[in-house]
Parts: sequence; structure tokens; C-alpha cells
Amino acid sequence: MILTVLAEKGGTGKTMAATNLAGMRAGRGRRVLLIDADRQGSSERWG
Ligand SMILES: Nc1ncnc2c1ncn2[C@@H]1O[C@H](COP(=O)(O)OP(=O)(O)OP(=O)(O)O)[C@@H](O)[C@H]1O
Ligand SMILES: [Mg+2]
Repeated sequence: MILTVLAEKGGTGKTMAATNLAGMRAGRGRRVLLIDADRQGSSERWG
């Protein structure tokens, strides 16, 4: 499954949605690769 969370820069909740989706899948035992294409890299601080 490939999911994309995409919108213009501006705090609409992309990082929140992407990290929560990744966490939910990982919590169900799925292998997850989270790619953050924003140079701000907020999801790097998520684990
Ligand atoms: N569903 C929600 N309910 C309440 N607060 C939220 C929700 N989604 C995001 N937020 C808050 O809104 C702010 C922006 O969210 P987030 O950083 O995920 O947006 P973003 O789209 O990644 O922003 P940017 O474009 O700046 O990267 C954060 O403070 C986050 O905690
Ligand atoms: Mg973000």
C-alpha cells in the first residue's frame, strides 16, 4: 500500500496525518517506510 499526504505548505495537518497513519500501520505489525519530502523534515523527530 502506498499512501501520499500532499498539500501546499501551511499547517493543514500533513505531518500529523502522515505520522499517525504510519504509526497505526506499524502498530498493526506492518513494515512502514515514511518519506518526508519537506525540507523542514518535521517527521524526523517522530518515532
Ligand atoms: N486534527 C488536528 N487537530 C488539532 N490539531 C491539529 C490537527 N492536525 C494538525 N494539528 C496541529 O496543527 C499544526 C500543524 O500540523 P502539521 O505540522 O501536521 O501540518 P503540516 O501540514 O505538516 O504543516 P507544514 O505545511 O508547515 O509542514 C500542528 O501544531 C499540529 O499539532
Ligand atoms: Mg509538515
